[in-house]
Amino acid sequence: MRTPVIAGNWKLFKKSAEALQLVEGLIPLVKGKSGVEIVVAPVFTVLDRVAKAISGTNIKLSAQDCYWEEEGAFTGEVSSGMLLDAGCSHVIIGHSERRQYFGETDATVNKKIKAALAAGLVAIFCIGETLEERESGRTFDVLGTQIKGGLSGIDSLQNVIVAYEPVWAIGTGKTASDAQAQEAHAFIRGEIAALYGADAAGKMRILYGGSVKPENVAGLISQPDIDGALVGGASLKADSFAALVNAA
Ligand code: 13P
Repeated sequence: MRTPVIAGNWKLFKKSAEALQLVEGLIPLVKGKSGVEIVVAPVFTVLDRVAKAISGTNIKLSAQDCYWEEEGAFTGEVSSGMLLDAGCSHVIIGHSERRQYFGETDATVNKKIKAALAAGLVAIFCIGETLEERESGRTFDVLGTQIKGGLSGIDSLQNVIVAYEPVWAIGTGKTASDAQAQEAHAFIRGEIAALYGADAAGKMRILYGGSVKPENVAGLISQPDIDGALVGGASLKADSFAALVNAA
């Protein structure tokens, strides 16, 4: 039995007052909700304050990225150990926006996942194809390459969650259909099984991301290989995010 995960990726939104207002609104709405892992991922500058606000609740804290070195002369970077120190239990790695705008590659994603796992964080490892890749029939090739590259040299997937986010569905309002998402998730689980065995694949949580909303979440998470959602826009309001949590 895989515990579903509903994770809110706040992206580049919410300064401290707004961030606190959001979590303080969310806490009572999801209070006592069990059987689902609830995660929020604010910007670095408010992690510490959000950590204090959610302390003792059923909400966990994630960062949106980390660097692979623990410390050193790397101006502007934040290490996985520093995220742990700030109260994070999770970190999103390899989001398509980082791949698209900040030059992340499968190789840098791999180093970051290793650093996150070494620090004891759960890595939310993002993969997904672009519209052009899908339309040219390369979805499975792309996903397979991202999985092999991102997980290269990693022995245990115990602290890894995969997030399948088709790039064409992010922030566009175009969700993958339940069947399209399930097909990709089943492929991903098959790849994990080929690399790590059936047991690891059976335990792996695979989240769907891309325009998930209260109106479409039920169909998605009822698919056999969809174990929750990584949510952007709908995680920025307490009521819509709570609706997703309560649907899981
Ligand atoms: P939206 O839910 O806004 O489409 O964003 C998805 C996403 O990128 C979550 O990481």
